[in-house]
Amino acid sequence: MCTISLYHQLKQVLTQSGMDEREASAITLMLIEEKTGLSRTQILTSAATAHCADLLPLAQQVARGVPVQYVLGYAYFCGMKFRVTPSVLIPRPETEELVEWVISSVKRYGAEPRILDVGTGSGCIAITLAKRIPTAHVTALDISAEALQVARRNAEALHAEVRFQQLDILHQQPQGTYDLIVSNPPYVCESEKATMERNVLDHEPHLALFVPDASPLLFYEAIARQALTPLTPNGQLYFEINRQYGTALTTLLHSLGYTDIQLRRDHFGNDRMIQCTINN
Ligand SMILES: C[S@@+](CC[C@H](N)C(=O)[O-])C[C@H]1O[C@@H](n2cnc3c(N)ncnc32)[C@H](O)[C@@H]1O
Repeated sequence: MCTISLYHQLKQVLTQSGMDEREASAITLMLIEEKTGLSRTQILTSAATAHCADLLPLAQQVARGVPVQYVLGYAYFCGMKFRVTPSVLIPRPETEELVEWVISSVKRYGAEPRILDVGTGSGCIAITLAKRIPTAHVTALDISAEALQVARRNAEALHAEVRFQQLDILHQQPQGTYDLIVSNPPYVCESEKATMERNVLDHEPHLALFVPDASPLLFYEAIARQALTPLTPNGQLYFEINRQYGTALTTLLHSLGYTDIQLRRDHFGNDRMIQCTINN
């Protein structure tokens, strides 16, 4: 079948599931590009051919609500390709902004900063930091053995040097000394499930997403407390945050002795990240 006909056929599978035209077009092109190696222009204009049988089941999975990143098995983060499975959160663009913030401030710790990523998932934060600051010593931890397996594979594929460790940050203190600790921990309240997209709710790992309504700052408090010992004097903590809890988190960090607390908005204008310093 010629690729343009294939494009229209697969796109129709997606629009019939209720997806809007633009998204259906973008996802269809991604699927065909991935499986044929052709560029978008070649797919839409050339007389190239491709087998529908390979691609139809993939489009059908997307039509059933499986995120396209899980269907393809990868997602892009800071320009790099990360393997993703349903054991890890699909990396988000907001998190890229957090990583850029860390990179812009890390120079103060000299050529070999020691960095810890808590709740590494696919490894996207830790691996990007290791690639962008090649002299850094990066450690990454997660409670999930399956997530760590994915993160290790990503580090290998991307030739990044990261030390991985399985640890429950709610109950165990990380070993070692760090200049900077960064985390995008679970921060979605159970009650927010009602307003979430089904494809996130049904397919992304709940372990990576949710906290009880009664303790929305559960991970922030645990990490900020656990960080007091391993952080070096003037060490910094960086978090991605739930936009509703910027002020509450500022108060919490202040009460634990952190200073220079700065909130930052994401490109949608929501409070999305926080940075603070410890003067221990
Ligand atoms: C929001 S995801 C972030 C993943 C990745 N860092 C990113 O930004 O895409 C949170 C991660 O925290 C991990 N996690 C959940 N509970 C944890 C715990 N008690 N200790 C350590 N990690 C935990 C999850 O397995 C998940 O990978």
